[in-house]
Amino acid sequence: MSGAPHTTATLQVLVAAKRAEARDICSLELVAADGGALPAFAAGAHIDVHLPNGLVRPYSLCNRPTETHRYEIAVLRDAASRGGSAAVHDAVAVGSTLTISTPRNHFALHSDTPGQPDGNAHHLLLAGGIGITPLLAMAERLTATGGAFTLHHCNRSRERTAYLARLNEPRFAGKVHHHFDDGPASQQFDQAATLHSAPPGSHLYVCGPKGFMDAVLSAGRANGWPEERLHREYFGAAPTAHEDDGSFEVEIASSGRVIKVLPDQTALDALLDAGIDIAMSCEQGVCGTCLTRIKSGTPDHRDQYLLPEEQAANDQFLPCCSRAKSARLVLDL
Ligand code: FES
Repeated sequence: MSGAPHTTATLQVLVAAKRAEARDICSLELVAADGGALPAFAAGAHIDVHLPNGLVRPYSLCNRPTETHRYEIAVLRDAASRGGSAAVHDAVAVGSTLTISTPRNHFALHSDTPGQPDGNAHHLLLAGGIGITPLLAMAERLTATGGAFTLHHCNRSRERTAYLARLNEPRFAGKVHHHFDDGPASQQFDQAATLHSAPPGSHLYVCGPKGFMDAVLSAGRANGWPEERLHREYFGAAPTAHEDDGSFEVEIASSGRVIKVLPDQTALDALLDAGIDIAMSCEQGVCGTCLTRIKSGTPDHRDQYLLPEEQAANDQFLPCCSRAKSARLVLDL
């Protein structure tokens, strides 16, 4: 992970297909607008999609990672969204041209042996709802390379389960388990038993609603799973503003300029208002695009991007959501 703010390369794609995958979930198949190959990606990668309403949203790639003739994403229409998912469902159609970032990956498969990308450990893939997307790419990758894995997909009902038919194809036989909230007790997801029965040395990967992820990660820690074997990808964020938020200052190290961040303002907004150009995307502390290095001062981390040990180092923060514990942060800008 780079500690410096960065701008991600973009490319133009054409929507080649749009399909209903489940209730309130559609998928988009994207091909390069110039007809060429798309950049290769690894399982777990996502792209930032620039939507017609001006919003930029990260979506995981869920097609086979060996494919470069197309990307596939799937999007849940989220009633609580700020317009990103609605734009995909309502304003994007077959033939639409979209700007996307090149793939980036904060959720890669892990190995304990250098030189063996993913094939020497057991991988426990836990998906809640639309969180299946990055894990589907992982399941494809592990199937193709002979890697050992088990995938559990938890959903409210069958009709809300994306990629049900694909996950039931013979190549995944015996490795994929579906759990429906409205189904019989015998098929409900037993988190404790699943974590307990994973082979020693397994890596756990979780993606889904925040409550689901927090429960899985807490159970993993309580069961003695070390942090380096717990991997997560958030696709949405909880509100990061607190009622008692106060103001603080950010200082631009290169110029000495000091900018005040008001209680109801993010540091990112204050920097942008002051004419300082910061790359950004999700504005929810999820994607990592606005990552900014800190030269001094103590941040109040509220993101879901940095790992606990990265947050503890206090040498970088995400100004779209995080604030300051000290009166001033000096930023490496
Ligand atoms: Fe995504 Fe800040 S813009 S983490």
